[in-house]
Amino acid sequence: MQLSPKVERVLNDQINHELTAFYAYMAMAAWFEQTPYKGFSTWMQAQSKEELTHADKIFHYISERNGSIKLKEIPLDDYSFKTPLSVFEAALILEESTTAAIHDVYELSLKEKDFETQNFLNWFLKEQIEEESSVRDMIDKLKLSNGSPSALMHLDSVAGKRPL
Ligand code: FEO
Repeated sequence: MQLSPKVERVLNDQINHELTAFYAYMAMAAWFEQTPYKGFSTWMQAQSKEELTHADKIFHYISERNGSIKLKEIPLDDYSFKTPLSVFEAALILEESTTAAIHDVYELSLKEKDFETQNFLNWFLKEQIEEESSVRDMIDKLKLSNGSPSALMHLDSVAGKRPL
């Protein structure tokens, strides 16, 4: 069944949301590149790549449902940070906004009785649980480190092991 215009529009909005997240994580990685924390930069670059795969999934889903893909401008907010903790706190706000956006698409697909889109979005709901959890985990550890350089360098080393 053809996507309804309403569902098609919010799925296109979600592509833009995921690409905005891609850009935001790249900006966070760029900030870390100006610091000794190259491991955190690697973590952010890996996350930015995940966001691209999310946008790609929706891109192909719209196409498979015979919808029309409409790409939009990607906004670039001011990403100036003070500490590694403040970067991950910004990442959590970003992930929570992504989760809320997915909920909105899910809610509309319920209203439109678009069962295929509900099924498609189940993967994203699960993914958002994992993504919020991994960012919260890092925030908890950064808070525990309490700014200790040795603890921060250890966390940076752990973060840098995330595969790119
Ligand atoms: Fe595409 Fe980080 O959610």
